[in-house]
Amino acid sequence: MIDLKTPAEIEAMRPAGAFVADVLTALRAKAAVGVNLLELDALAHDMIRRRGAESCYIDYHPSFGARPFGYVLCTSVNDAVLHGLPHDYTLRDGDLLSVDFAASVDGWVADSAISVVVGQAREEDLRLIEATETALAAAIETAVVGNRVGDISARIGAVAASYGYRVNTQFGGHGVGRTMHGDPHVPNDGRSGRGLPLRPGLVVAIEPWFMAGTDEIYTDADGWTLRSKDGSRGAHSEHTIAVTEDGPVVLTARAD
Ligand code: MF3
Ligand code: CO
Repeated sequence: MIDLKTPAEIEAMRPAGAFVADVLTALRAKAAVGVNLLELDALAHDMIRRRGAESCYIDYHPSFGARPFGYVLCTSVNDAVLHGLPHDYTLRDGDLLSVDFAASVDGWVADSAISVVVGQAREEDLRLIEATETALAAAIETAVVGNRVGDISARIGAVAASYGYRVNTQFGGHGVGRTMHGDPHVPNDGRSGRGLPLRPGLVVAIEPWFMAGTDEIYTDADGWTLRSKDGSRGAHSEHTIAVTEDGPVVLTARAD
């Protein structure tokens, strides 16, 4: 079911978006060589407590996860690209880290992700991150009344192709509201002019994620972390946005 929000409901989602943005800003500042993934999770958990927010991940147990997630962040390092289960790992020079965070504030959810390199970055990793950020920006630009979900998907796929990356469509964007995952599904590739027409009040998370060498993934022995089949690195960028009469509103916009 597609749930369209009123302008007042979109306003009511802003605190959740701002909080998720603040947490990612804090995590970007904290992520560095020598920092443990569990410290990043603890920082986000502490911010959740202080804000009186609720984690969308900790008890989350969908069909694609082996057990309830148990942490408030996804931390995906290097060949891990999505759903990285935080574990006792200390970041090393040149690691590519993707952090995905969703929480609810006042009963409304926001979902957003960033990728960063800690220490000395490799050119190819910066290019991969740039591709996901460029795809996200293009997709958001396309999220206007009169377009369709397929237009968003096609833009993401076209940016990936222009960088020479192939797209895995097993996981993509989704409707966001009172819960983290709702309709519609927003695939990271598709055909323009197809799919659900975008109407004012549609709130979706758009989340391009690409891997440098393959479009195939496998699940780590931890039952959650998704890794590239060929060991190549992955990156992920995500925002929660609202389609409005005045154009797209990025609810999880950050200052950084
Ligand atoms: N936030 C992720 C998404 O963008 C979902 C992560 S599910 C988790 O859809 F349980 F792994 F955290
Ligand atoms: Co999401």
